[in-house]
Amino acid sequence: VRTAAVLTAAGSGSRLGLTVPKALALLDGTPLVGHAARRLVASGVVDLLVVTVPDGHLAAVRDAVDDALRDVPGAHAVPVLCTVGGPSRQASVAAALAHLEPDVDVVLVHDAARALAPPELVAAVVAAVRSGSGAVVPALPVTDTIAEVEPGAGTGRPARVVATPDRSRLRAVQTPQGFDRALLDRAHAAASGRAADEALSATDDSSLVALLGEPVVAVPGDDAAMKVTTQRDLAVASLLLRTVAV
Ligand code: C5P
Repeated sequence: VRTAAVLTAAGSGSRLGLTVPKALALLDGTPLVGHAARRLVASGVVDLLVVTVPDGHLAAVRDAVDDALRDVPGAHAVPVLCTVGGPSRQASVAAALAHLEPDVDVVLVHDAARALAPPELVAAVVAAVRSGSGAVVPALPVTDTIAEVEPGAGTGRPARVVATPDRSRLRAVQTPQGFDRALLDRAHAAASGRAADEALSATDDSSLVALLGEPVVAVPGDDAAMKVTTQRDLAVASLLLRTVAV
């Protein structure tokens, strides 16, 4: 009975405007992937860490993770495997799943971009899976009114609003997401056979599970699990690191 964490760090981070991949962007002197790995392992519920890495950056990511784990209690007992990711996030996760031994029965999937997701959140997600939910996501209520616009609408030009869903029923979904391993394997197998346009609408692993018709449950998310996409996000994350315990 073992829990593996897949840490996706193979994105380019072009929206950050850096020359290094996003996972290697520094936050308070530590690369994002290091922050994320520390908090996953500090949860005490992760037995194995698989990191998906951009091609050409294996050594840099491995060093960043090793450095960040050095002073985490119990980290020496958690093997870390770095593997080159695929062309999409989904392909990167699928590549990581292919490395897991049969004794892994719970899998967390976490974005390095959510570098400050706290250990307590990691533990809560795993606990929810271990108590019987096959797919668990951390989620927060949204504060904006969310509008659905016409299909094919881009950004930066007017688009017709086709629906405004009841905000009280909407949630912003974060990572780490937790899964029964067999269910996640099944969701990825189904996704790899699906038409590209349908697959594109799945931006995380829980949506692949939902496409199977299987239930996904939401547990309370955490502001600290915000996703770093832009320089502004990096500045906000840096402020969080200084002002609240994460
Ligand atoms: O691009 P986006 O911010 O949605 O990426 C989410 C996460 O997926 C990031 O942590 C990124 O490093 C990872 N990713 C990946 N392989 C890709 C693309 C993104 O592991 N090919």
